[in-house]
Amino acid sequence: NERVSNYYAYELNNIKSLYKGGRVVSAVSGGIDSTVATYIVMKAIGSNNVIPVLIDHGLFRINEVEESKINLEKAGINPIYIDASEEFLNKLEGITSCEERRKIIGELFAKKLNEVITKENASYLIQGTIYPDVIESGKTKYSQKIKSHHNVGGIPKWFNIDIIEPLRGLYKDEIRELAKIIGIPKEILNRHPFPGPGLAVRIIGKFTNEKLNLLKKADKIVNDVLKAKGIYNNLWQSVVTISESWVGVKGDEREEGYIINVRLVNSDDGMTADYYLPPNNVIDEISNRITNEVKKITAVSFITSTKPPTTIEPC
Ligand code: XMP
Repeated sequence: NERVSNYYAYELNNIKSLYKGGRVVSAVSGGIDSTVATYIVMKAIGSNNVIPVLIDHGLFRINEVEESKINLEKAGINPIYIDASEEFLNKLEGITSCEERRKIIGELFAKKLNEVITKENASYLIQGTIYPDVIESGKTKYSQKIKSHHNVGGIPKWFNIDIIEPLRGLYKDEIRELAKIIGIPKEILNRHPFPGPGLAVRIIGKFTNEKLNLLKKADKIVNDVLKAKGIYNNLWQSVVTISESWVGVKGDEREEGYIINVRLVNSDDGMTADYYLPPNNVIDEISNRITNEVKKITAVSFITSTKPPTTIEPC
Protein backbone atom coordinates (compact mmCIF):
# COMPACT_ATOMS: atom_id res chain seq x y z
CA ASN A 1 0.00 0.00 0.00
CA GLU A 2 1.54 3.20 -1.24
CA ARG A 3 -0.22 5.48 1.21
CA VAL A 4 1.30 3.56 4.13
CA SER A 5 4.86 3.50 2.78
CA ASN A 6 4.63 7.19 1.90
CA TYR A 7 3.34 7.94 5.37
CA TYR A 8 6.26 6.02 6.87
CA ALA A 9 8.85 7.89 4.81
CA TYR A 10 7.17 11.18 5.65
CA GLU A 11 7.07 10.41 9.39
CA LEU A 12 10.75 9.40 9.54
CA ASN A 13 11.73 12.76 8.04
CA ASN A 14 9.22 14.61 10.13
CA ILE A 15 10.59 13.16 13.38
CA LYS A 16 14.20 13.75 12.30
CA SER A 17 13.49 17.40 11.59
CA LEU A 18 11.47 18.02 14.78
CA TYR A 19 13.89 16.26 17.13
CA LYS A 20 16.21 18.72 18.86
CA GLY A 21 18.15 16.23 20.98
CA GLY A 22 17.66 14.76 24.46
CA ARG A 23 16.04 11.60 25.72
CA VAL A 24 12.75 10.21 24.50
CA VAL A 25 10.56 8.15 26.82
CA SER A 26 8.06 5.68 25.39
CA ALA A 27 5.40 3.72 27.26
CA VAL A 28 5.13 0.32 25.60
CA SER A 29 2.53 -2.37 26.27
CA GLY A 30 3.54 -5.14 23.87
CA GLY A 31 0.69 -4.10 21.59
CA ILE A 32 1.17 -3.23 17.98
CA ASP A 33 0.60 0.55 18.28
CA SER A 34 3.15 1.35 20.97
CA THR A 35 5.64 -1.09 19.43
CA VAL A 36 5.42 0.40 15.94
CA ALA A 37 5.45 3.97 17.31
CA THR A 38 8.57 3.26 19.35
CA TYR A 39 10.24 1.44 16.47
CA ILE A 40 9.69 4.35 14.07
CA VAL A 41 11.22 6.86 16.49
CA MET A 42 14.19 4.56 17.12
CA LYS A 43 14.65 4.30 13.38
CA ALA A 44 14.46 8.07 12.93
CA ILE A 45 16.78 9.21 15.73
CA GLY A 46 18.67 6.05 16.73
CA SER A 47 17.84 3.77 19.65
CA ASN A 48 20.38 5.18 22.13
CA ASN A 49 18.20 8.06 23.19
CA VAL A 50 14.91 6.16 23.33
CA ILE A 51 13.87 4.79 26.73
CA PRO A 52 10.97 2.31 26.53
CA VAL A 53 9.02 1.70 29.74
CA LEU A 54 6.51 -1.04 30.47
CA ILE A 55 4.20 0.05 33.27
CA ASP A 56 2.27 -2.87 34.74
CA HIS A 57 -1.15 -1.67 35.95
CA GLY A 58 -2.20 -5.18 36.95
CA LEU A 59 -4.93 -5.10 34.29
CA PHE A 60 -3.18 -7.25 31.70
CA ARG A 61 -4.29 -10.78 30.91
CA ILE A 62 -2.66 -13.93 32.27
CA ASN A 63 0.99 -14.27 31.02
CA GLU A 64 0.62 -11.11 28.96
CA VAL A 65 3.47 -9.16 30.55
CA GLU A 66 5.94 -12.03 30.17
CA GLU A 67 4.93 -12.59 26.55
CA SER A 68 5.15 -8.88 25.80
CA LYS A 69 8.71 -8.67 27.15
CA ILE A 70 9.80 -11.55 24.91
CA ASN A 71 8.05 -10.14 21.82
CA LEU A 72 9.37 -6.63 22.36
CA GLU A 73 12.91 -7.95 22.66
CA LYS A 74 12.46 -9.54 19.21
CA ALA A 75 11.65 -6.06 17.88
CA GLY A 76 14.82 -4.68 19.50
CA ILE A 77 12.93 -3.01 22.33
CA ASN A 78 14.03 -3.73 25.91
CA PRO A 79 11.79 -1.79 28.26
CA ILE A 80 12.35 -0.78 31.86
CA TYR A 81 9.67 -2.72 33.81
CA ILE A 82 7.69 -0.93 36.49
CA ASP A 83 5.27 -3.01 38.55
CA ALA A 84 2.62 -0.57 39.77
CA SER A 85 -0.20 -3.11 39.89
CA GLU A 86 -0.86 -2.86 43.62
CA GLU A 87 -1.23 0.89 43.46
CA PHE A 88 -3.61 0.75 40.46
CA LEU A 89 -5.76 -2.05 41.85
CA ASN A 90 -6.10 -0.45 45.28
CA LYS A 91 -7.29 2.79 43.70
CA LEU A 92 -9.82 0.99 41.49
CA GLU A 93 -11.38 -1.26 44.12
CA GLY A 94 -15.07 -0.47 44.55
CA ILE A 95 -15.33 2.07 41.70
CA THR A 96 -18.52 1.53 39.69
CA SER A 97 -18.27 4.24 37.04
CA CYS A 98 -16.20 3.06 34.12
CA GLU A 99 -15.39 6.59 33.01
CA GLU A 100 -14.12 7.31 36.51
CA ARG A 101 -11.93 4.18 36.30
CA ARG A 102 -10.54 5.35 32.99
CA LYS A 103 -9.74 8.70 34.61
CA ILE A 104 -8.05 7.11 37.63
CA ILE A 105 -5.96 4.83 35.40
CA GLY A 106 -5.03 7.64 33.01
CA GLU A 107 -3.91 9.89 35.84
CA LEU A 108 -1.93 7.29 37.75
CA PHE A 109 -0.36 6.11 34.50
CA ALA A 110 0.67 9.68 33.72
CA LYS A 111 2.11 10.07 37.23
CA LYS A 112 4.18 6.89 36.88
CA LEU A 113 5.36 7.93 33.45
CA ASN A 114 6.25 11.37 34.69
CA GLU A 115 8.46 9.84 37.39
CA VAL A 116 10.46 8.16 34.63
CA ILE A 117 10.58 11.34 32.54
CA THR A 118 11.89 13.33 35.51
CA LYS A 119 14.43 10.68 36.50
CA GLU A 120 15.75 10.37 32.94
CA ASN A 121 15.52 14.12 32.33
CA ALA A 122 13.70 13.34 29.08
CA SER A 123 12.65 15.93 26.50
CA TYR A 124 10.06 13.95 24.57
CA LEU A 125 7.34 11.38 25.09
CA ILE A 126 6.14 8.96 22.40
CA GLN A 127 2.40 8.31 22.26
CA GLY A 128 0.91 5.46 20.23
CA THR A 129 -2.23 7.49 19.45
CA ILE A 130 -3.95 6.25 16.31
CA TYR A 131 -6.48 7.98 14.10
CA PRO A 132 -9.66 6.36 15.50
CA ASP A 133 -8.59 7.43 19.02
CA VAL A 134 -8.39 10.99 17.77
CA ILE A 135 -11.89 10.80 16.33
CA GLU A 136 -13.64 8.88 19.12
CA SER A 137 -12.17 10.89 21.99
CA GLY A 138 -12.70 14.25 20.37
CA LYS A 139 -15.96 16.10 20.36
CA THR A 140 -16.70 16.81 16.72
CA LYS A 141 -19.52 18.70 15.08
CA TYR A 142 -21.32 15.43 14.51
CA SER A 143 -20.72 13.36 17.60
CA GLN A 144 -20.43 13.64 21.33
CA LYS A 145 -17.39 12.17 22.98
CA ILE A 146 -17.92 8.40 22.90
CA LYS A 147 -15.30 7.19 25.38
CA SER A 148 -12.28 8.82 26.92
CA HIS A 149 -9.51 6.62 25.55
CA HIS A 150 -6.68 6.84 27.98
CA ASN A 151 -3.88 7.25 25.49
CA VAL A 152 -5.31 10.41 24.01
CA GLY A 153 -5.46 13.78 25.60
CA GLY A 154 -4.83 11.52 28.61
CA ILE A 155 -1.69 13.54 29.09
CA PRO A 156 -2.56 16.06 31.80
CA LYS A 157 -1.85 19.76 31.36
CA TRP A 158 0.94 19.69 33.95
CA PHE A 159 2.85 17.33 31.68
CA ASN A 160 5.55 19.61 30.41
CA ILE A 161 7.00 17.58 27.57
CA ASP A 162 6.86 17.48 23.79
CA ILE A 163 4.78 14.62 22.44
CA ILE A 164 5.70 12.57 19.39
CA GLU A 165 2.72 10.74 17.87
CA PRO A 166 3.99 8.87 14.81
CA LEU A 167 0.71 6.97 14.21
CA ARG A 168 -1.75 9.82 14.58
CA GLY A 169 -2.78 9.67 10.92
CA LEU A 170 -3.22 5.92 10.56
CA TYR A 171 -6.09 3.47 10.96
CA LYS A 172 -5.47 0.17 12.70
CA ASP A 173 -5.34 -1.88 9.49
CA GLU A 174 -2.78 0.57 8.13
CA ILE A 175 -0.65 0.17 11.24
CA ARG A 176 -0.69 -3.59 10.63
CA GLU A 177 0.53 -2.96 7.10
CA LEU A 178 3.23 -0.64 8.33
CA ALA A 179 4.26 -3.23 10.92
CA LYS A 180 4.68 -5.75 8.10
CA ILE A 181 6.76 -3.31 6.06
CA ILE A 182 9.17 -2.69 8.94
CA GLY A 183 9.31 -6.34 9.99
CA ILE A 184 7.67 -6.31 13.44
CA PRO A 185 7.58 -9.90 14.83
CA LYS A 186 4.42 -11.82 13.89
CA GLU A 187 3.56 -12.42 17.56
CA ILE A 188 2.96 -8.69 17.91
CA LEU A 189 1.38 -8.36 14.47
CA ASN A 190 -1.21 -11.06 15.18
CA ARG A 191 -2.22 -9.80 18.58
CA HIS A 192 -5.73 -8.56 19.04
CA PRO A 193 -6.16 -4.90 19.94
CA PHE A 194 -6.25 -4.46 23.72
CA PRO A 195 -7.40 -1.24 25.41
CA GLY A 196 -4.93 0.90 27.33
CA PRO A 197 -6.93 0.63 30.57
CA GLY A 198 -6.86 -3.15 30.08
CA LEU A 199 -9.34 -5.41 31.81
CA ALA A 200 -10.68 -2.47 33.86
CA VAL A 201 -13.01 -1.63 30.95
CA ARG A 202 -14.20 -5.24 30.76
CA ILE A 203 -15.59 -5.31 34.28
CA ILE A 204 -19.23 -4.31 34.19
CA GLY A 205 -20.60 -2.71 37.33
CA LYS A 206 -18.45 -2.35 40.42
CA PHE A 207 -14.72 -2.99 40.01
CA THR A 208 -13.48 -5.55 42.49
CA ASN A 209 -10.28 -7.54 42.58
CA GLU A 210 -12.42 -10.66 42.92
CA LYS A 211 -14.14 -9.96 39.59
CA LEU A 212 -10.81 -9.10 37.99
CA ASN A 213 -9.29 -12.43 39.00
CA LEU A 214 -12.31 -14.42 37.82
CA LEU A 215 -12.26 -12.52 34.53
CA LYS A 216 -8.57 -13.29 34.00
CA LYS A 217 -9.23 -17.03 34.36
CA ALA A 218 -12.28 -17.01 32.06
CA ASP A 219 -10.44 -14.88 29.49
CA LYS A 220 -7.62 -17.41 29.35
CA ILE A 221 -10.04 -20.28 28.78
CA VAL A 222 -11.86 -18.45 25.96
CA ASN A 223 -8.63 -17.54 24.18
CA ASP A 224 -7.02 -20.95 24.70
CA VAL A 225 -10.04 -22.66 23.13
CA LEU A 226 -10.22 -20.19 20.23
CA LYS A 227 -6.51 -20.68 19.53
CA ALA A 228 -6.77 -24.47 19.71
CA LYS A 229 -9.67 -24.39 17.22
CA GLY A 230 -7.81 -22.08 14.83
CA ILE A 231 -10.39 -19.32 15.26
CA TYR A 232 -8.41 -16.73 17.22
CA ASN A 233 -6.25 -15.40 14.39
CA ASN A 234 -9.26 -14.82 12.13
CA LEU A 235 -10.98 -12.53 14.61
CA TRP A 236 -10.49 -8.82 15.08
CA GLN A 237 -10.97 -9.20 18.82
CA SER A 238 -12.13 -11.55 21.48
CA VAL A 239 -13.51 -9.42 24.30
CA VAL A 240 -14.30 -11.29 27.51
CA THR A 241 -16.20 -9.39 30.19
CA ILE A 242 -17.75 -10.05 33.58
CA SER A 243 -21.04 -8.82 35.01
CA GLU A 244 -23.49 -9.50 37.82
CA SER A 245 -25.30 -11.81 38.53
CA TRP A 246 -26.96 -15.17 37.97
CA VAL A 247 -28.08 -17.75 40.44
CA GLY A 248 -26.50 -21.13 39.83
CA VAL A 249 -26.59 -24.59 41.30
CA LYS A 250 -23.22 -26.21 41.77
CA GLY A 251 -23.60 -29.61 43.38
CA ASP A 252 -26.69 -29.14 45.53
CA GLU A 253 -25.74 -25.65 46.55
CA ARG A 254 -27.37 -22.44 45.45
CA GLU A 255 -24.73 -19.97 44.40
CA GLU A 256 -25.17 -16.39 43.34
CA GLY A 257 -22.38 -15.97 40.85
CA TYR A 258 -21.19 -13.82 37.99
CA ILE A 259 -21.85 -13.88 34.24
CA ILE A 260 -19.05 -14.08 31.69
CA ASN A 261 -20.00 -12.30 28.46
CA VAL A 262 -18.02 -13.24 25.37
CA ARG A 263 -17.97 -10.72 22.53
CA LEU A 264 -16.19 -12.05 19.43
CA VAL A 265 -15.97 -9.56 16.60
CA ASN A 266 -14.82 -9.21 13.02
CA SER A 267 -13.84 -5.75 11.87
CA ASP A 268 -11.53 -3.90 9.46
CA ASP A 269 -10.67 -0.94 11.60
CA GLY A 270 -12.62 -1.11 14.87
CA MET A 271 -14.98 1.66 13.78
CA THR A 272 -17.70 -0.80 12.79
CA ALA A 273 -17.90 -4.49 13.67
CA ASP A 274 -19.85 -7.69 13.12
CA TYR A 275 -20.33 -10.25 15.84
CA TYR A 276 -19.01 -13.78 15.33
CA LEU A 277 -20.58 -16.89 16.85
CA PRO A 278 -18.43 -20.04 16.90
CA PRO A 279 -19.84 -23.47 16.00
CA ASN A 280 -21.99 -25.07 18.71
CA ASN A 281 -19.34 -27.50 19.90
CA VAL A 282 -16.93 -24.61 20.49
CA ILE A 283 -19.59 -22.60 22.32
CA ASP A 284 -20.25 -25.66 24.49
CA GLU A 285 -16.59 -26.18 25.25
CA ILE A 286 -16.06 -22.54 26.22
CA SER A 287 -19.22 -22.44 28.32
CA ASN A 288 -18.68 -25.72 30.09
CA ARG A 289 -15.04 -25.11 30.83
CA ILE A 290 -15.74 -21.71 32.31
CA THR A 291 -18.59 -22.78 34.57
CA ASN A 292 -16.70 -25.92 35.63
CA GLU A 293 -13.25 -24.44 36.12
CA VAL A 294 -13.90 -20.93 37.37
CA LYS A 295 -15.47 -20.81 40.77
CA LYS A 296 -18.32 -18.29 41.11
CA ILE A 297 -19.09 -18.11 37.38
CA THR A 298 -22.66 -19.35 37.01
CA ALA A 299 -23.47 -18.31 33.44
CA VAL A 300 -21.79 -17.64 30.10
CA SER A 301 -23.31 -15.51 27.36
CA PHE A 302 -22.27 -14.62 23.82
CA ILE A 303 -23.01 -11.09 22.64
CA THR A 304 -24.76 -10.96 19.27
CA SER A 305 -24.78 -7.24 18.50
CA THR A 306 -23.02 -5.33 15.76
CA LYS A 307 -21.21 -2.00 16.11
CA PRO A 308 -23.06 0.29 15.73
CA PRO A 309 -24.97 0.43 17.92
CA THR A 310 -22.94 -1.66 20.36
CA THR A 311 -19.33 -0.61 20.98
CA ILE A 312 -16.70 -3.33 21.05
CA GLU A 313 -15.69 -2.83 24.68
CA PRO A 314 -18.55 -2.72 27.17
CA CYS A 315 -17.54 0.66 28.58
P1 XMP B 1 -15.07 0.61 21.09
O1 XMP B 1 -15.33 -0.05 22.41
O2 XMP B 1 -15.01 2.10 21.19
O3 XMP B 1 -13.61 0.15 20.68
O4 XMP B 1 -15.99 0.12 20.00
C1 XMP B 1 -13.02 0.38 19.42
C2 XMP B 1 -11.62 -0.17 19.49
O5 XMP B 1 -10.84 0.62 20.38
C3 XMP B 1 -10.34 -0.18 21.45
N1 XMP B 1 -10.39 0.62 22.68
C4 XMP B 1 -9.34 1.22 23.25
N2 XMP B 1 -8.05 1.23 22.91
N3 XMP B 1 -7.55 2.61 24.78
C5 XMP B 1 -7.16 1.93 23.67
O6 XMP B 1 -5.97 1.94 23.39
C6 XMP B 1 -8.84 2.64 25.20
O7 XMP B 1 -9.17 3.26 26.18
C7 XMP B 1 -9.78 1.90 24.38
N4 XMP B 1 -11.12 1.72 24.47
C8 XMP B 1 -11.47 0.92 23.41
C9 XMP B 1 -11.23 -1.39 21.49
O8 XMP B 1 -10.57 -2.50 22.08
C10 XMP B 1 -11.57 -1.59 20.03
O9 XMP B 1 -10.57 -2.30 19.34
